Amino acid sequence: MSNKFRLGVLGSGKGSNFVAIADAVAAGKIPAEVAVVLSDVEGAGILSHALERKIPARFVPPGKFRTKLDEEAEREFVKILHEAKVDLIVLAGFMRVLKGDFLRAFEGRIVNIHPSLLPSFPGLEAWKQALDHGVKVTGCTVHFVDAGVDAGPIIAQQTVPVLENDTAESLHSRIHAAEHDLYPKCVAAMARGEISVAGRKVIWRKP
Ligand code: GRF
Repeated sequence: MSNKFRLGVLGSGKGSNFVAIADAVAAGKIPAEVAVVLSDVEGAGILSHALERKIPARFVPPGKFRTKLDEEAEREFVKILHEAKVDLIVLAGFMRVLKGDFLRAFEGRIVNIHPSLLPSFPGLEAWKQALDHGVKVTGCTVHFVDAGVDAGPIIAQQTVPVLENDTAESLHSRIHAAEHDLYPKCVAAMARGEISVAGRKVIWRKP
């Protein structure tokens, strides 16, 4: 096992943010390695993207609940992530809320990306919420994960304009493109130790 900064990536979907991060790692833009990719969805795209890149990847059954992991699943996720000696957990479209024991096991070491400018539009389909609300600017947010939903301290945000004739799809894909730019930069800064938190305030130390 190398002594590089180690990432554990969790996702439930197609894994385009994971791909952006894995490509940035491969290009030497993130001084880290992806140690493991885990999904609560069997056959999720994120798992095949990882396996194609020869990164260890596994489906872990989430248990009986729909929006969170059950106790046994939570223990299994934590065990695998500990065994993989991850330094940072990167949520990339992981559709379950992480609870107490998981959060305690990796306190201050879990980050997420959300497709809106938080605290506006937390929760599901944030791009649709933005469109329905009629905002003129939305975007994406990288933040630390705490016990709230899309609520932890904000690391960085990138804005995306909402255009006159946007559909949910066109807006969503513009936000996705912004995510693919922002998330690798934030993970790189984490890996370089340039980010610290004081309460809700996230401080970036320039290299
Ligand atoms: C992204 O839009 C992210 O903001 C949200 O889930 C989506 C994941 O997309 N948390 P992908 O699986 O990375 O393509």
